[in-house]
Amino acid sequence: MPRLGFGSGGLKGDVGIDAVEYAMKSGYTLVDTAQQYANEEGVAREKIYICTKWQPPPEGSDLRPTPEQVRDEAHRSVLRLDKSGKEYLDMMLIHHPRPDAEGRANFWKGLALAQKEGWVRDIGVSNYFVPIPKASSSSRIDANKDLYDFELDEQDMKDLDGLDQGSAGRVSGIDPDNLPE
Ligand SMILES: NC(=O)c1ccc[n+]([C@@H]2O[C@H](COP(=O)([O-])OP(=O)(O)OC[C@H]3O[C@@H](n4cnc5c(N)ncnc54)[C@H](OP(=O)(O)O)[C@@H]3O)[C@@H](O)[C@H]2O)c1
Repeated sequence: MPRLGFGSGGLKGDVGIDAVEYAMKSGYTLVDTAQQYANEEGVAREKIYICTKWQPPPEGSDLRPTPEQVRDEAHRSVLRLDKSGKEYLDMMLIHHPRPDAEGRANFWKGLALAQKEGWVRDIGVSNYFVPIPKASSSSRIDANKDLYDFELDEQDMKDLDGLDQGSAGRVSGIDPDNLPE
């Protein structure tokens, strides 16, 4: 798996196409997408590593998909890449840890079925990942590739720690210290 990916959350339409095209020309070979981002269509397939994310039911939903239903829903991502269904995904992750252990086990079993059928090569969860900086302009896409040739000093670390807002800074309802059973 490539060590750096291009994040496409929020990039759609012409802006998204231009940004992904530029990122690929400039050397990114992993494009991170998700069913939730509604932008899986229209990406050129050759020489790229496609990682997408299966979308669990929303918070509070009573839906409890079986492994077979998870597999069938996951397959829609392949059809969005290529209507003939002959495409494959390099990797598919479970997007969120909700709702509970039984749900997560069924999601995992569903993706394992997909992997067995051969149209998903690797499966995983989206809690730990390579850097996938998202940017829409070419100058930022270039700047964000320079990840490995600088070091943060003590003051940089203090400045970063100073940005921590604790739970007030959380961007989703999930508390990573208290995941559902
Ligand atoms: N697994 C998950 O559940 C999950 C969750 C969140 C995100 N993601 C993935 O991670 C990617 C990144 O997410 P994120 O939350 O870190 O970022 P983000 O909020 O999606 O976007 C990054 C922001 O930083 C700006 N930016 C980018 N490069 C910059 C630079 N060099 N200088 C100044 N500003 C810059 C971008 O502006 P412009 O677009 O205007 O350039 C954009 O507004 C997403 O696109 C998605 O692929 C995955």
